[in-house]
Amino acid sequence: MRANLVSPSSAHLSYAIRDIVSFAELVRRHGVEITWENIGDPVAKGERVEPWIRQIMHEVLEIEDSWGYCPTEGFLEAREALAEHVNARPGARVTPADIIFFNGVADAVAKVYGFLSAHARVIGPSPAYSTHSSAESAHCALPHLTYDLDPENSWMPDFVDLRRKLESYPAIAGILLINPNNPTGAVYPPEVLERFVALAREFDLFLVADEIYIHMVFPGVETVHLSEVATDVPAVVMRGISKEVPWPGSRCGWIEVLNRSRDQNFSAYIDSVLAAKRLEVCSTSGPQLAVPRIFGDPRYADHLARRAQTFAKRAQQAYEILRQVPGIKVHPAQGAFYMTVLFEAGTLTGTNRLPIADPQLRELVEQQCKGAAPDACFVYQLLASTGICVVPLSGFFTPRPGFRFTLLETDDAKREWIFRTLAEALTTYIESGKTSSRPVERSLART
Ligand SMILES: Cc1ncc(COP(=O)(O)O)c(C=O)c1O
Repeated sequence: MRANLVSPSSAHLSYAIRDIVSFAELVRRHGVEITWENIGDPVAKGERVEPWIRQIMHEVLEIEDSWGYCPTEGFLEAREALAEHVNARPGARVTPADIIFFNGVADAVAKVYGFLSAHARVIGPSPAYSTHSSAESAHCALPHLTYDLDPENSWMPDFVDLRRKLESYPAIAGILLINPNNPTGAVYPPEVLERFVALAREFDLFLVADEIYIHMVFPGVETVHLSEVATDVPAVVMRGISKEVPWPGSRCGWIEVLNRSRDQNFSAYIDSVLAAKRLEVCSTSGPQLAVPRIFGDPRYADHLARRAQTFAKRAQQAYEILRQVPGIKVHPAQGAFYMTVLFEAGTLTGTNRLPIADPQLRELVEQQCKGAAPDACFVYQLLASTGICVVPLSGFFTPRPGFRFTLLETDDAKREWIFRTLAEALTTYIESGKTSSRPVERSLART
């Protein structure tokens, strides 16, 4: 080629949640049945979308507009309905012009960071959700900047660390928060959100809030939407229907732009994000027409409450089983449908192994582990030994070793098996690291 075709940004693109799939496919070829615990897709894990929601989609198909392009920002009727939903909450204030539709939150993420000046940085949480951290990193071809989430404090943001970084890096123009959080399952109480707002005010920053799980907060857990507390700082809130309807295949999400008029530069930036979207014409039309009908249906509140209760019970079930394992740290999720297990210091010694009966597969795993992060090595061993596919925490831009699993399994017996097998595998793995012996006897795989 006359010129290098590869962008320097490409080195910063990674998505551990799907990266693990190619190795899992290799393991599958050795006859191991894979239990996919890596991706947050409730439909793939057996959840059936409620009949009344499916019926709305049938009705939408009869609307001619659902077959055509729509305005770049999205249908006015959908944006009016969403603005009304936002404004129904205390403190919040947006107009339909502040709502812009995208092909899912992931598309909004690509545009929001992709059209930010390469000199302006957005600091995000660690553990990070790769779609944000990779996109932010790629926009400036530099490693993502992060603030710590503290596992000793229920994965709440470490505001001392965040403040120190805001003081040290003048290029930081924005702060990302994900509430409820992926991968930790933490939910931020209103005071925590107010602290983000206060920092944005003090340092003249904008906020990015990924609230894709905001309708999945477990009973008794308190939080608010950012729009209720960010009454005077510019912010971009990201929302969607992938998780809560759940309808990830709709590729439908939107942003709420808060307090745009407070800052001309922020407003010009939002104009550029919309101009970028215009080049793509528009986002998926049909799901936009379904959103106001679903959100406006009197059955929706019950639907959300029932799901939140279901995931809360599963989080408690996972916690009760995993907390028994010495050498790990685990917190029950407060929202969304993920939980994170951390290995305590000193447990990963390089000699940890799980039993893998097939010698060829055992060798494949040994090769795969060479040079891999210690938690990735556990994930490879777990896959080969049990077939359970989780995501190593090192894939979430954090030095803390661990892994993320989901609470999505709908089959009660299988879910119990997943959690118990994880506990058994963790115990064996940690125990084996205390000696140099390599247990090779029986596999933990489901038979
Ligand atoms: C925090 C977070 N944001 C965004 C997304 C992607 O959302 P969408 O399906 O709307 O693109 C996910 C998917 O797992 C997520 O966990």
